[in-house]
Amino acid sequence: MFERSPVKVAVIGGGNMGSAFAAGFLRENIVSPADLIVYEVNEDRRANLKTLLNCELRSAPGKELSDTVIIILAVKPQVFPDVIGDYMPFINADQLIVSIMAGCSVSYISEKLNGHTKIVRCMPNLAAQISEGVTVFFAPDAVSTDEKKLVKKLLDAAGESYAVNNEDLIDAATAVSSSGSGFVFYLFEHWMKAACELGFSEEMAQRLIAKTFSGAVKFWQEGDYTAEALRKMVTSKGGTTEAGLKVFNQRGLGESLVEGIKAAYKRAGELSQK
Ligand SMILES: NC(=O)c1ccc[n+]([C@@H]2O[C@H](COP(=O)([O-])OP(=O)(O)OC[C@H]3O[C@@H](n4cnc5c(N)ncnc54)[C@H](OP(=O)(O)O)[C@@H]3O)[C@@H](O)[C@H]2O)c1
Repeated sequence: MFERSPVKVAVIGGGNMGSAFAAGFLRENIVSPADLIVYEVNEDRRANLKTLLNCELRSAPGKELSDTVIIILAVKPQVFPDVIGDYMPFINADQLIVSIMAGCSVSYISEKLNGHTKIVRCMPNLAAQISEGVTVFFAPDAVSTDEKKLVKKLLDAAGESYAVNNEDLIDAATAVSSSGSGFVFYLFEHWMKAACELGFSEEMAQRLIAKTFSGAVKFWQEGDYTAEALRKMVTSKGGTTEAGLKVFNQRGLGESLVEGIKAAYKRAGELSQK
């Protein structure tokens, strides 16, 4: 449990991500139901959340928000400037703001929060919604070491989290691990196409591909080998893997992947609200 107890947490925006993190806090017993408030403006969604989260659900803020220690911003970036006005009267300088909003820099959030300094910027990814996500986070000097530990504990409820010392690495994480989910699905799409054209049913193709990926990931993570060493291990001279790789290399697949990820990084910088 936390050093400061009970730690009251508020989540602003109970959509896909906000509700996933909130559910993780409760499931992992990091926050007790009595210490968690989720603000969700959408009535239908609030009704759905009632069955998922046994915590306080509110449509709008009141003075209860001032008693929370951590406030998680989980609304869409484009509505944030309009939304935050209602919450501002109940936010004070001691509260720690944790933003999962894509493309919103610490200085941008600080500006919208009238110069608030205790802000952590996070970049989660899709699988946070099934507790298998990875989140990269950046905290400026105004956030203490204990607070960073607390944030990590909260973020780990939706998978794994890693702190970075340079905010630019949040844009890099946007490309590598957030857009990264999309890139993996792009590979799956093409792998599926090939498998089905070779005669497998969709169901069988999905099973084979998913297990091939998860098995390869496990092998890579649990052994002492680099991806390159493992690739060489399964590539015998004149064999089938070599034949496939030859086409990938001729068509520049590897380079395209590197360039694509760098393009996503560049775009993250362009879209970022500095
Ligand atoms: N989804 C991802 O994979 C992913 C990955 C990385 C980062 N993120 C970031 O995570 C954040 C949330 O994304 P999401 O996919 O969870 O979006 P979402 O499902 O649209 O959730 C946002 C929720 O906030 C609600 N909301 C709007 N105004 C509000 C207010 N004044 N008070 C309380 N709630 C309010 C929205 O209701 P209405 O729909 O009625 O407006 C919606 O239910 C975004 O900033 C996004 O950039 C998402």
